[in-house]
Amino acid sequence: MATYGRLPLTLVKGSGCWVEDDQGRRHLDCVAGIATCTLGHSDRVLRRALTRQLRRLQHVSNLYRIQEQEELARWITDRSCTDQVFFCNSGAEANEAAIKLARKYGHSRRGVDRPVVLSARASFHGRTLAAVTATGQAKYHRGFEPLPEGFDHFQYNDLDDARAAIDRHDGRAVAVLIEPLQGEGGVVPGDPAFFQGLRQLCDGRGLLLILDEVQVGMGRTGRLWGYEHLGIEPDAITLAKGLGGGHAIGALAVKTGAAVFEPGDHASTFGGNPFACRAALTVAAELERRELLAHVQARGEQLREGLLQRVARHPGLLSGVRGWGLIQGLLLREGSVTAADLVREAMAEGLLVVPAGPQVVRFVPPLVIRRREVRQLLERLDRSLARLA
Ligand SMILES: Cc1ncc(COP(=O)(O)O)c(C=O)c1O
Repeated sequence: MATYGRLPLTLVKGSGCWVEDDQGRRHLDCVAGIATCTLGHSDRVLRRALTRQLRRLQHVSNLYRIQEQEELARWITDRSCTDQVFFCNSGAEANEAAIKLARKYGHSRRGVDRPVVLSARASFHGRTLAAVTATGQAKYHRGFEPLPEGFDHFQYNDLDDARAAIDRHDGRAVAVLIEPLQGEGGVVPGDPAFFQGLRQLCDGRGLLLILDEVQVGMGRTGRLWGYEHLGIEPDAITLAKGLGGGHAIGALAVKTGAAVFEPGDHASTFGGNPFACRAALTVAAELERRELLAHVQARGEQLREGLLQRVARHPGLLSGVRGWGLIQGLLLREGSVTAADLVREAMAEGLLVVPAGPQVVRFVPPLVIRRREVRQLLERLDRSLARLA
């Protein structure tokens, strides 16, 4: 269907941070399946683990206990502030589960008849009806009305606006669903003071604070979870993208106090199947074995410094850099060029990057990107900027 405005490029194979098109041209991949291919393409360890898993067991459904799923749930809960995990297949589904959880929490723990879930403007939470309604961008809503009721929005990083949104609903607001760093909305890091204030607000008024870690969780920012940058603990997190290293898996992880689901409340046929969980378990083990958090911090710093140098060199085109670790946004000066222009020129230079809104270009390479590859990225960016200048 015509759901995508695709770029004129067909990728046929990949290795590490590199992908090859059907004309035999190599591209340095700083999109990584949109912040997903954590270990790069065709990683040897992941390939072997998944081949072994295919030989043993792929899918059995959640009618039965699944060892790989239980092991993965333990890995997530041991390393986060959460205690229980529900598995699904994507980010939107993880948020959908979180929204259902929030509503049930409102009904069962707070006695709220028509609960409201609050989220930020310029956020992105996915495309299913509830997730897209939580997404605070009108362009994703148009044409899909009537949207489900029970959602409202406030300004990201603005505590007064968040408080006003909670108060507007006379005790019906039951949860805040929010990204630690807004990804699609322009690579906007959360402000620790805002998040600490939000945590207090939620505690004071009985709201769940649910962090959408779909894009930044699993080490992308140089910490395992985005919330570690903010000095707070959420009641729940949602995960997908990087969790499976390129394989479809999503998760909602919650603290015991928020674990209101009972048997029959929510389900997924494919969710947490042995194959998907093996992918995530392998990504998890490799993050630790290769000490990728320290690596992301170092390579993220190298990338950020390189981008800042380009901003200094091209003040007419570029206006700044935002991000944490290996999610960095290069800000294009309003009225000069658009993100789509730079994406196109970079593609011609064998560098794949992705817009985050009309004026921001996002760099989200595999977490295994090497020092030399960051240099190559910057050289290719220089040539792309020269074409635009
Ligand atoms: C923060 C965030 N949440 C949710 C989603 C939706 O994930 P999916 O496309 O897997 O449904 C995305 C996708 O870009 C995202 O960035």
